Amino acid sequence: MDCVKQALLVGGYKNVINRLMIKKLLLSFSILLLLSSLSAQQLSDRAWARADSLLGQMTLDEKVGQMTLFTSDWVVTGPTLRPGYRDDILAGKVGAIFNAHTSEYNHQLQKMAVEETRLGIPLLFGYDVVHGYRTIFPIPLGESASWDLQGIEQTARIAAVEASAAGLNWTFAPMVDIARDPRWGRVAEGAGEDTYLGSLISAARVRGFQGQNIGDENTILACVKHYAAYGAAQAGRDYNTVDISDRTLREIYLPPFKAAKDAGVYSFMTAFNDVDAVPCSGNSYLLQDILRKEWGFQGMVVTDYTSINEMVPHGIVANNAEAATLAVNAGVDMDMQGAVYYDYLAKQVKEGLVSVETVDQSVRYILALKYELGLFDDPYRYGSKEREAEEVFSQAHLNVALESSIKSLVLLKNERGALPISASKSIAVVGPLADNKAEMLGNWFGDGRADDVITPLMAFRAIGADVYYAKGCETSGEDESRISEAVVAAEQADIIVAFVGESGYMSGEAASRSDITLPGPQRALISALEATGKPLVLVLMNGRPLDLSWEVAHCDAILEAWFPGTMGGPAIVEVLMGEANPSGRLPITFPRSVGQVPIFYNAKNTGRPFDANNKYTSKYLDVENTPLFPFGFGLSYAEITYGKPVLSKTEFSASETVKISIRVTNTGDVATTETVQLYVHDLVGSVTRPLKELKGFQQVTLAPGATQQVEFEIGVNDLAFYTRDMTWKAEPGDFEIQLGPNSRDVQTATIKLTD
Ligand code: BGC
Repeated sequence: MDCVKQALLVGGYKNVINRLMIKKLLLSFSILLLLSSLSAQQLSDRAWARADSLLGQMTLDEKVGQMTLFTSDWVVTGPTLRPGYRDDILAGKVGAIFNAHTSEYNHQLQKMAVEETRLGIPLLFGYDVVHGYRTIFPIPLGESASWDLQGIEQTARIAAVEASAAGLNWTFAPMVDIARDPRWGRVAEGAGEDTYLGSLISAARVRGFQGQNIGDENTILACVKHYAAYGAAQAGRDYNTVDISDRTLREIYLPPFKAAKDAGVYSFMTAFNDVDAVPCSGNSYLLQDILRKEWGFQGMVVTDYTSINEMVPHGIVANNAEAATLAVNAGVDMDMQGAVYYDYLAKQVKEGLVSVETVDQSVRYILALKYELGLFDDPYRYGSKEREAEEVFSQAHLNVALESSIKSLVLLKNERGALPISASKSIAVVGPLADNKAEMLGNWFGDGRADDVITPLMAFRAIGADVYYAKGCETSGEDESRISEAVVAAEQADIIVAFVGESGYMSGEAASRSDITLPGPQRALISALEATGKPLVLVLMNGRPLDLSWEVAHCDAILEAWFPGTMGGPAIVEVLMGEANPSGRLPITFPRSVGQVPIFYNAKNTGRPFDANNKYTSKYLDVENTPLFPFGFGLSYAEITYGKPVLSKTEFSASETVKISIRVTNTGDVATTETVQLYVHDLVGSVTRPLKELKGFQQVTLAPGATQQVEFEIGVNDLAFYTRDMTWKAEPGDFEIQLGPNSRDVQTATIKLTD
């Protein structure tokens, strides 16, 4: 950190970048990563015993207190608690606080709970540590474009190390909502559209946050959210109704939650939406039948922000008292910010509408988790000034942030040899996001600070590039008056790099857009730049797939950078200058126009599949069926050629597996990391099946000229689905195996599963 700052001051930033590159190789010294596959974590007998012994001493009001989660605030002077909440903590009416952070402040609050309440039960401290605490990594959608599970686990681990140093012991992450609709702003927070990739990433993030042992001081509870199907909001409008079949719910939306559960996640957050006409915070099908009974989940269920109260406007209860009854009986253990349990739960118990046993069970989960965190042994174990100073925003963490940002970059187009840029060229660095520190953090950036961010302009200057800078315009509004300044810069340079996209606030919660083209005057900027005739590269920062049809036709190269986080600038500059080779692959489809939405790769054939010569087939009159950029797509500076798929057998039984291999060769002149993807199509099923489903991928790094044989193994479990009668199994018959660099450009082979 100090050396980054110092280097920026003396203009020697190029050295820092080089040093960071070298340091990347040495990461294992500074980050202890335990990439074990954890089995489902159970609460221990000792935790239950401690919970039971405390329960025996608690009044009903104290029990309800444990089920209550209130927020802390942050004002100019720092963290602060609303006066009423202070009294509530002292009265034992609050079991957990969120948004409180920094070790000193959390210590003060904990002291009140432990030393000034009747039973001295410690507080949980939660926060949205979503893509980093202070060291900010790319937004989750961007990081998912790396398809790098170890890297994703590592950044979650670092987020937990920093958050726990600052007094936190619980994060409201990972967000694992499958999102097939780019209008929905919260696509930014998840892993994209695919259930298979999303499930692997879900488990990786849980392992990263929770580490090997939740009792360790540098691990925190994960909270998988938003349960369930929040991403299926109709028309991509946030908080909107979800109405999907049970099959789609179970096959597409639930597996990433199940994967989190299997990775040992300790808490679940209910979603705002309804599913099949029942709001998630009152949905006993989701919370009892599936989560507790089918999956055997043992941890705690917390609501999303005031979502118990919101069951009143949902129209499923008449008032908050009824909402409390519905939620607790459905299986909600903790009420986030709504104060519905706080106000009504004891009354509902006294009136016989809620049983004491139901309340006790919720409190048991909460107390047992506090025990597992070690809070009863030492309530002050999370956070210390020393740890904060040493571990938060450390150089080692910045190194990982740089690497993670590089891996998240997806090269979407590269023509006329636009990229990489030769060091001898002068560069016009233009656009509203070329030097905008705050926007690069995206949204849900924890304690991330704009001042920490290194922008692309800073990074270009630090390597001594010959740069002409002009902002040109904003990301929103209509003001085109300064576009001419960008044109002047462009005219002086050999090549133009325009940084365009969305502002951070345009994606995330409550940030749905009906128009997913580049907002504001940015197309006018691009037009003016194109008119100079200079090579034009677009670098995009955005939280969702955009409709880039127009941009593709008006530039030479496009690099998708998402919101790349603290080290985004150096990461982008390394890739633009060819010091690093882009390897990201889209975790979500980019449509040609918003009218195609929802559009996703694992669609079905329909009874009238597309036929250009037949009007009465499934298509649009005004746009093609195919997306602009398919799921799994991404270019690099190398050329990769694929051999033919080779199968170990073409017929196999349920007890056997088939090995599928393919040779990939780097015919380019730079080393590259290729993500080889395997999809499966069940040709005939008892229900209609998608044309392809991702079932495996492997990343191989190839030196120029190198060839590698990439091998997959397919078994009956990879072919299973919810059959006509909703049993999960594979049906005998023919399956098409598809192998390739993305979901579109595949080679096929057929295998037969025998009876
Ligand atoms: C969001 C959650 C978040 C919570 C607490 C809600 O508005 O939907 O994702 O965890 O706030 O900040």
